[in-house]
Amino acid sequence: MPSKTPVVDIHSHLYPPAYISLLESRTSIPYITTIANSRRLVNRVGQSGKPLMPILYDISTKLAFMNRHGIDISIISLGNPWLDFLPPDIAASTAASINDATNALCAAHPGRLFCFAALPLSAPRAALLAEISRVATLSHVRGVVMGSAGLGDAGKGLDDPDMLPVYEELERQRLPVFLHPNYGLPAEQWGPCCADYGQVPALALGFTMETTIAFSRVFLAGMFDKVPELTFILSHGGGTLPFLAGRIESCIEHDRTWKENGRLSERKKTLWQVLKKNVILDGVVFDKVGMRAAVDVVGVERVMFGTDHPFFVPLEETELWPCMVRNRDAARDAVGEGDEYEMIMGGNAVRLLDLK
Ligand code: URA
Ligand code: ZN
Repeated sequence: MPSKTPVVDIHSHLYPPAYISLLESRTSIPYITTIANSRRLVNRVGQSGKPLMPILYDISTKLAFMNRHGIDISIISLGNPWLDFLPPDIAASTAASINDATNALCAAHPGRLFCFAALPLSAPRAALLAEISRVATLSHVRGVVMGSAGLGDAGKGLDDPDMLPVYEELERQRLPVFLHPNYGLPAEQWGPCCADYGQVPALALGFTMETTIAFSRVFLAGMFDKVPELTFILSHGGGTLPFLAGRIESCIEHDRTWKENGRLSERKKTLWQVLKKNVILDGVVFDKVGMRAAVDVVGVERVMFGTDHPFFVPLEETELWPCMVRNRDAARDAVGEGDEYEMIMGGNAVRLLDLK
């Protein structure tokens, strides 16, 4: 289907070669190791990893995917688990070199690539804040990518009061946070048959609940009262947030303790208001139902197409990857083929992320 506006993929990962070298040098997760004679990138505990194929790190493979699928622009982000695991003393310098390398890759392909920078969340606060203000000056950076751990991989989450200065700096620099899952839910959640359920527990259920919980905690901590212009781009259509927002609000409205201690009357914004003002949802939902929910909750002007490339590799040779076809068709089936479709497929990203 021809598109008048550029097609923009806002959910597209790349592990730049410098990051691959970093994982090669490690001996514990996350790392690159040999399993059954194959080099694999293992980024989560309990996972056997992904084969270390060029699609993970090679920019020409990314561009070939874009060309084959009619994607004009990709906003590339470092894949999980980003830099969460770095010792504090090398976190900022490592982040700076990876962000510079990613920005340079984008600059080398004018008009095709932009990026979300990775943050040294385990670094001392001053160094972390300095990297935020530094990446804001890089030509192709349009936001930052972040997991749910908070300050370091054993962090206290995104509602940690110590995250406030980070959010304030991001707000000041007008950098949205692309919130992406990595850790899922605790293994006990899945029971003894888990291994038989393939990647559904981790990627379909764990990932989406992780995003839902992480963002809900930011909201419940009142962060959007303190940083009212902060923007979050939520992965995978917001996890389950569009479906659960009503129930979350209902629990708040019916909370006697909150009423008695004044929190109910003091709160400035409902979740619905935050979703409409502070949240962008990607469209990596693979179906009309999720896409329609995303559009209904944040508005069609705040939903942006994505593929999650290079994950979800087709199991068989196909002309187009399903992550392209299903997410594109989901947009068309949810809003029809007119202007709203163009907005989701690229117009919103060009406008909101200044991709001109
Ligand atoms: N698997 C991952 O590790 N990350 C994603 O983003 C998707 C699948
Ligand atoms: Zn992803």
